[in-house]
Order: sequence, then structure tokens, then C-alpha cells
Amino acid sequence: MDKKAVVIAGAGSTHTPGIIQSLLQKKNELPLRKLALYDIDEKRMHLVYDIMKQFIEQEAPDIEVVVTTDPEKAFTDVDFVFAQIRQGGLQMRRQDERIPLKYGCVGQETCGAGGSISYGIRSIPGVFDLVRYAKKYSPDAWILNYSNPAAVVAEATRREFNNDHILNICDMPTAILLSYSKMLGLPSWRDIDPMYFGLNHFGWFTKIYDKQGRDRLPELRQMILEHGMAVSDKHHKDKDWMHTWGQYVKIVKDYPEYLPNSYLQYYLYSKDMADDMDPNWTRADNVINGREKEMFAEHDKYLADPANYKSPVQSFTVFGDFIVDAAASIAYNKCERYLVIVENNGAIPNLPDDAMVEVPAYLRSWGPEPISQPAIPTFYKGLIEEQNASEKLAVDAYYEHSYQKALEAIAINKTVPSTTVARQILDDLIEANGNYWPTLS
Ligand code: NAD
Ligand code: G6P
Ligand code: MN
Repeated sequence: MDKKAVVIAGAGSTHTPGIIQSLLQKKNELPLRKLALYDIDEKRMHLVYDIMKQFIEQEAPDIEVVVTTDPEKAFTDVDFVFAQIRQGGLQMRRQDERIPLKYGCVGQETCGAGGSISYGIRSIPGVFDLVRYAKKYSPDAWILNYSNPAAVVAEATRREFNNDHILNICDMPTAILLSYSKMLGLPSWRDIDPMYFGLNHFGWFTKIYDKQGRDRLPELRQMILEHGMAVSDKHHKDKDWMHTWGQYVKIVKDYPEYLPNSYLQYYLYSKDMADDMDPNWTRADNVINGREKEMFAEHDKYLADPANYKSPVQSFTVFGDFIVDAAASIAYNKCERYLVIVENNGAIPNLPDDAMVEVPAYLRSWGPEPISQPAIPTFYKGLIEEQNASEKLAVDAYYEHSYQKALEAIAINKTVPSTTVARQILDDLIEANGNYWPTLS
């Protein structure tokens, strides 16, 4: 196998240590010749590098390591870009979550006015920059983008680049499959071949095939209803996520036909969720005081004794596991089957061709080959079309610098009850986003 070069863009991310661990622990699946780290925040990137340096030297002493804020150095001679930026950082995530809540609407990283619209419009130009660097300095490289909100970013990269050598992905379905596999007593999430339809953070499992070809969904549904969800991935285990898994059972009770993506809680129970959230302390605050603080504390350990510091080695998260496998499937044309975000083009026959949908696909060296799904029932179709309209309008607002389109994107979103509220939220978001957004008129 020829060795590959990977650049992690947004290398100061709290997820980078886990991704590096997966990359190096899975070096037989995706052998590396080079690992580049790129970020606009030099200090934060070096903090992550300090933490992971010892592990990299131990596991992969022969690879070239590049740590840089210079796009040319970072993106030259790479085969893969792992894109994981957060424009405006966790401070802006906090604003995205707090502003809708001020008006009684769901405040969430990727959902609703703060997620699809605020974070969406903010994320697009940052991701475009990364794609342009890749196309300029390594035109054959594949960009695996998971910078959020992936649904909106995927629609924007479709319009701008026709998603040529770009694959948008998300770990949520895989994290859910990990739970399912544990509940069914299967050794790995790869032992399930799911059928699934929807948008990113807005979809449903319709079949849970095991390798014998049996659909295990009815059995799984019964287990969930009787015993709840088995929680698996270490990222999705803290108190907030445990609340999500409790809600998951409620969704299955109310809509037992298929098994949902957990993000549907924010749409199907938007008022209950908003009523339950604290506008002065949101998920961003818990991430800042949890995952991010732990990363800084780890760095303090490094600073206390750099020469003897040992990188923390945990079992990898399902996310790193999935990204590396997805990259390897593309790199070596392995034709493995993963849930990814692609242009519909008939994969779900009764949704628009140009919707960016999340479905299973075989990953080939030339890209994803989506697996078509049966036509979907009216309830799901209606929900998806409304959400898809909101996401497309957010991208329209970005391109057209249109206040009206942004207003429509928010007003049509299921998390927002009225146009009056949509306008109030939008006006606050414009102020909060400042130069991260184009000037809307
Ligand atoms: P984080 O704030 O800890 O890290 C983001 C990093 O990106 C920071 O180091 C920041 O300096 C850098 N950055 C910001 N703008 C940049 C730009 N324009 N160019 C280069 N670097 C830039 O965030 P996090 O919580 O670790 O998450 C990172 C991203 O990954 C977010 O978008 C998050 O939503 C996404 N994510 C997606 C999935 C998924 O399922 N798709 C899963 C996990 C995380
Ligand atoms: C899941 C989703 C991601 C999202 C993350 C948020 O993994 O798939 O898209 O970014 O959850 O988790 P957090 O712990 O940052 O709230
Ligand atoms: Mn996701």
C-alpha cells in the first residue's frame, strides 16, 4: 500500500488528539508518510501538538510532521484534508445557542436558528478557504469535511465546487450504530449494514441488517423501549448526552416505525426542549468547562515536565475510527459502506435531486456511490422538505447577502414558532456575528 499524507485543518480542535490517535493506531489501514497540522490559531494548535508529540514520535517515528499556520506549507503534497474548523470558536457557539433561547426557541450548535443559520452562514467562507487551498496546492486531494453545520456546509460546497473531491461526513449515525451493535451483541458497528434516509442530523434508520442479512430493527426497537439506549462512544456519554439518550426512547415511543437520529429531539419536541434549556448556561458552557478545560489541563501537565511527558492514550472515539476508515476506503478503493452526505440525485426517489441527503454509500477512489432507498412516507418527507428548505435558504442568504432569505430560513425552521420571533432572533444574530457574516440587506 502506498503511504498517504493527511492534513488536519482546525488542528487546535478538542477532537484532534482523538483523531491523531485513530490515525496512528490504525496505521495498517491508512499508512502515513506525512501528518500536517494546520490552524489559524498558532498557540492552540501547538498546545495540541505538545500533547500529542510524544505519541506521534513513539508510534510513527518515520513520518514527516508539519505544524504550520501557512496554508501553502500545510496543503502542499497531501492526499487528504480532514476539515474540522469552528469559525468563531466556542464563544460564538455560545452566542448561537443563547440568542434563540432568549426568544424561547431551541438554542443548539447545529440545529435551528443558531445552528443551521447562524453557524451555517459563519462556517461557509472558512470551509471554502480550506477547499481552495486544497485545490490550489494538492488538486487531487480528497477533503473530508466534518466542520459543522455539515448539512449547510455540504449544500454550500455543492454549489461552489460541485462537491468534487469533497465528502461531508458526521459521526452521529455511526455513534448510534455503535450502541446498536453493543445491544445486539455484535462485535463492531461495522457488523451492521443499515438502511437510512434523511438529511444530516435529521434522519432515520429503516433497516438494521446484520451480516447474515437479517433485519434486527424490530428486536432493537423492543430493547430500546424496554431498557433504553446502551450508551457507547466516550464522546457521547456525559450528562447532557445522557439526557439525549433518555429523549431518544421518547422519540421511538412516539414514532416507532423507524429508529431516529438523536438530533430529531430538537425538532419533534422543540418547545419542550427550549423550555428545558437555560439561556444563561448552554451546551457550549459545558464544553468549555469540560472537554476544552481537560485539554488545557493536559497541556499544563506537559508544561510541568516536557521531557518526561507521556501523551494520553485512550481507546479511540468512534469518530476517529470512522474518519480513518472512510479515508482508507477512498484511498485504496475498498468499497466499504458508510453513512455519508451526498447529493440526492434519486437516491431517495421522492425528495428533490439537489437535496444534500445522508444515506449509505460505498466509498470508492472516485467518490461515494450512494445506495438508493425506498420512497419515504409523507410524515418524514414533509419534515425533511421543511428542514431542507431552511438549510437551502441559509445558503441563499450567504450568497445573496439577503436579509429576507435569512429571515425565511429562520421562519420556516421547525424550532421557530413565528415570523416576529424569527426577525428578533435574526437581528440579534446579525449583531453577534459581526464580520463573520456578509452584510445582509
Ligand atoms: P474547537 O473550537 O475546539 O476547535 C476548532 C479549531 O478550528 C480551533 O483550533 C480554531 O482555531 C480552528 N479554526 C477556526 N476557524 C478556522 C479557520 N478558518 N481555519 C483554520 N482553523 C480554524 O472545536 P471542536 O469542538 O473541536 O469542533 C471542531 C469542528 O468539528 C466543529 O465544527 C464541530 O462542530 C465539528 N465536529 C463535527 C462532527 C460531525 O459529526 N460532523 C463531530 C465532531 C465535531
Ligand atoms: C455529535 C455530532 C456532531 C456535533 C457533536 C457535538 O458528535 O455528530 O456534529 O458537533 O455531537 O458534541 P458536543 O459534545 O460538542 O456538544
Ligand atoms: Mn454530526
